[in-house]
Amino acid sequence: MKATAEANANIALIKYWGKRNSSLILPCNGSISMTCDGMHTKTTVEFSEKYAHDTIIINDEELKKDEKDILGHMERVRKLAGIKEHARIVSESNFPVAAGLASSASGFAALTLAAVKAAGLSLDERELTILTRQGSGSASRSICEGFAEWHRGQKVDGTDSFAESIARKGHWPEFRMLATIVQESKKKVSSRAGMKQTVDTCPFYKGWLDSVDADLQAVREGILEKDFSKVGSTAEQNALKMHATMMTTKPAIIYWIPATLEIMHSVMQWREEGLEAYFTMDAGPNVKVLCLERDEKELTKRLSSLDGVIKTISCRPGDGASLSDKHLF
Ligand code: PMV
Repeated sequence: MKATAEANANIALIKYWGKRNSSLILPCNGSISMTCDGMHTKTTVEFSEKYAHDTIIINDEELKKDEKDILGHMERVRKLAGIKEHARIVSESNFPVAAGLASSASGFAALTLAAVKAAGLSLDERELTILTRQGSGSASRSICEGFAEWHRGQKVDGTDSFAESIARKGHWPEFRMLATIVQESKKKVSSRAGMKQTVDTCPFYKGWLDSVDADLQAVREGILEKDFSKVGSTAEQNALKMHATMMTTKPAIIYWIPATLEIMHSVMQWREEGLEAYFTMDAGPNVKVLCLERDEKELTKRLSSLDGVIKTISCRPGDGASLSDKHLF
């Protein structure tokens, strides 16, 4: 009853922001992302009678406080599989955890696949994304290869809110996301808390929801047509709209720090000068710069020389979650 899985992070081009059902994690809007090759989490899960409770070790550190999201997810898997054994979970990521870099996405995707396999369940990809979604919404997209869409769905039980690959990684291998790190520490407000506060208190949230379907259509088409300007410009505006809703909650949530703005202004300036790149940010200060392979070197050089930039990590469209036979313990 032991299995290991690997999953990549993903960067949302059209953001998931707000839940219509918090216990099932059903989103108010659909979202589209690129699964990022190069930013991954590997997780081994073993269920056994020898464990008195679930133990979670992330990057060599045992989590001591009550990790209710992870524990709740393990309970969900046990219930589905009809087993009682507790688990030892060991996980490693090769990028900063909880700094708006989608670590929860790769983490929950790898955890779900490993736990499902270790529990003896057999689920198809769609079922796996539905189960993963209940641990962390954005993680449902990390199950899928290349470019993924997580459908909002209409049903109250969430059975039509799943993620699927809309283009494989080989469809657009020149697409790049340069994660530009300006802060590695844990963020103060989690995306979960931030989106709840937005739904509850932002006067502009309806405007966000009203405009998302057009953004989804533009990015979906842009990916299929490999129209970089369409995808990049829509993604950038979508991220700004999401941040506009957070900034206008009570109390305000402002994830940006001076270096975030420095990068945003620089990207816009470079674009005016003919170097085509766009930015997007999640619930954190780090900026993800979208570009094509032809400009990757130049942009990496320019971004690295800006004040406050700690490092850049370049990602191309990557694989979906997969099993591995190299266990972590
Ligand atoms: O799935 P969560 O709770 O980590 O929320 C993710 C929210 C954003 O990263 C801001 C947007 C997204 O779609 O990934």
